[in-house]
Amino acid sequence: MPTTLLDGIGLLVTGGPEHGDGSPLGEIPDAGLVVDARGLVAWVGPSARAPAADTRVDAAGRCVIPGFVDSHAHLVFAGDRSAEFAARMAGRPYEAGGIRTTVAATRAAPDDVLIANLARLVAEMRRQGTTTVEIKSGYGLTVHDEARALALAGQVTDETTFLGAHVVPSEFASRPDDYVDLVVGEMLDACAPHARWVDVFCERGAFGADAARTVLTAGLERGLGARVHANQLGPGPGVQLACELDAASADHCTHLSDDDIAALAGSDTVATLLPGVEFSTRSPYPDARRLLDAGVTVALATDCNPGSCFTSSMPFCVALAVREMRMTPAEALWAATLGGASALRRADIGRLVPGARADLAVLDAPSYVHLAYRPGVPLIAAVWRRGRPEPLAWQS
Ligand code: NIG
Ligand code: FE
Repeated sequence: MPTTLLDGIGLLVTGGPEHGDGSPLGEIPDAGLVVDARGLVAWVGPSARAPAADTRVDAAGRCVIPGFVDSHAHLVFAGDRSAEFAARMAGRPYEAGGIRTTVAATRAAPDDVLIANLARLVAEMRRQGTTTVEIKSGYGLTVHDEARALALAGQVTDETTFLGAHVVPSEFASRPDDYVDLVVGEMLDACAPHARWVDVFCERGAFGADAARTVLTAGLERGLGARVHANQLGPGPGVQLACELDAASADHCTHLSDDDIAALAGSDTVATLLPGVEFSTRSPYPDARRLLDAGVTVALATDCNPGSCFTSSMPFCVALAVREMRMTPAEALWAATLGGASALRRADIGRLVPGARADLAVLDAPSYVHLAYRPGVPLIAAVWRRGRPEPLAWQS
């Protein structure tokens, strides 16, 4: 692969303060970026000082940002729950039990239906600037269907998460402890080879603290990293458990006590906020300012799923974070790129500094501020992964 100079960048966001103007985003006006033969960033700096490369691509004054890192998504499913959304907008509250509707449809779907839906959603994400996505199982809830979901997810991402503990399936309703035994036994045996992470929905109506601890500990013992759906629908033990077990991320964080914030601030656990969920369930947003002001590392992700939030758009989540959660545009972009990378414990993505993967998005705008300033507008002009332009078809 020849070296490439992406030149004529109106504003480059490197994500590395040392490679820019000293701001947390490491901004460089009138910039160039060189990709080496391995698809890694070799050089960033002012265009006037750019070294020669085999090919030159002109960004024509556009803004270039690291590709979005969407660290929380549920993309392996079948069926449609738009009627549930419509009922919610008419006043019915969101409940975790809706997950079982998707479980029934997913179990009944052949592989090709699941693959087509998964590919369509990943193509949607790419079109909107996402270059890395984490994908969870959790709509199979049998040994076969959970392993199947993870094997399919593994075809499109390395960031796969075993979420057998999403909800107790109906056939185990009268004996939830037996379901936890299955999850940490035969199901984990079948799923661990296909997964990097283990996750649990720690919430009233799903799994309590003891069951969540059992599932996460079993996953950790298998060498998986931990992540937790925590404190989404109400206060609860999820965040404390995530911090105690050094989970990479506590996701949702909508209902937090002072102790929860202190635990996050004193840990390496990232608080991943999913504002599309509050938008789509018409719920109060998490208090991002309280987290940021306490020094907690914050990530933004879509939580793309058929129930609580069916958006695949990181730009939409950035706009929500700025407008509804009072994050600055710079904080929101950081959270959607480097924050997501931190939530996946990855140092090679989410920033455009020498040695990192040349995963980037070219915006049809002079500044990343337009992501929030122009909500709902398709601003992604091009996406590169590992230094190569991606085809951006809406359907793949
Ligand atoms: O992250 N919270 C649990 N899981 C999903 C919702 C899934 C569903 O409603 O189907 C979430 O919001
Ligand atoms: Fe989720």
